[in-house]
Amino acid sequence: MTEPLTESIPAREVATEPVFLRDRQGHSMRGCFVTGTDTEIGKTSISAALLHWCTQQGWRSAGLKPVAAGVDGRGVNEDVRALRDASSLLLSHAEVGPLQFRAACAPQIAAALEGHTIDSQTLVDHAQALADRADVLVVEGVGGFCVPLGPDFDTADLAQALHLPVVLVVGLRLGCINHALLTAEAIRARGLTLAGWVANTLDPGMEHISGNLDTLRHEFMRRYQAPCLGLVPRLAEPSPAAVAMYLDAEALRSVFAL
Ligand SMILES: Nc1ncnc2c1ncn2[C@@H]1O[C@H](COP(=O)(O)OP(=O)(O)OP(=O)(O)O)[C@@H](O)[C@H]1O
Ligand SMILES: [Mg+2]
Repeated sequence: MTEPLTESIPAREVATEPVFLRDRQGHSMRGCFVTGTDTEIGKTSISAALLHWCTQQGWRSAGLKPVAAGVDGRGVNEDVRALRDASSLLLSHAEVGPLQFRAACAPQIAAALEGHTIDSQTLVDHAQALADRADVLVVEGVGGFCVPLGPDFDTADLAQALHLPVVLVVGLRLGCINHALLTAEAIRARGLTLAGWVANTLDPGMEHISGNLDTLRHEFMRRYQAPCLGLVPRLAEPSPAAVAMYLDAEALRSVFAL
């Protein structure tokens, strides 16, 4: 008889308890959790643009990259640097990026290389501490939605624990419709609200871009009533202000309004 190669994974027995982040008045926190169809598809660019837009609304905005892998010569992760620069609150790199690992690889592996185990509760407490100081919190996920952060804990668990509405960045390329809808299914399976999606142009030469966008609009609306929050072209200088020009202000108000 053939033995299974791996032990079967037990069903998750207890869902991570959601934390409703509170502002100083005790109201639910304005904010969002930004995820993407993949790594390197524009999550940081869109998160920074969202922070810029929130600052323009007169809100004290704070970016958070709970787990980051890969640092520059000064020991700072580039996403952390970008989100810190785009936040209106004056934050330290450690406040925006509480866990920055040196190796630019999958976060669980990067953490293990430093003998570190990522603790969910520590990240949630850190998010609440930032929420206490800000009007709006923009949290950038790690890679795609289901990237493991530990043996029994992944990015989706973190999003679920923070219980913020989710913004999905769709990197426009062949195959993105399937990746987008699979990610949306995973978001719904965690009981989270897909507040909307942003189309980010990875390859301006992609064929049938408008057909892909029509399908994405239709499917996101039909399945999730999730609006398109913006269509960002390939920009020569994708600064937060430049990217924010392509976000839909009216749709964003409904993401952030309580
Ligand atoms: N619309 C755009 N126009 C031009 N360049 C872009 C655009 N969107 C993203 N980029 C560039 O593409 C690269 C990847 O984008 P970004 O860092 O935002 O991706 P990410 O999804 O956050 O990646 P990671 O998974 O590493 O966090 C960056 O160099 C960024 O400046
Ligand atoms: Mg990023």
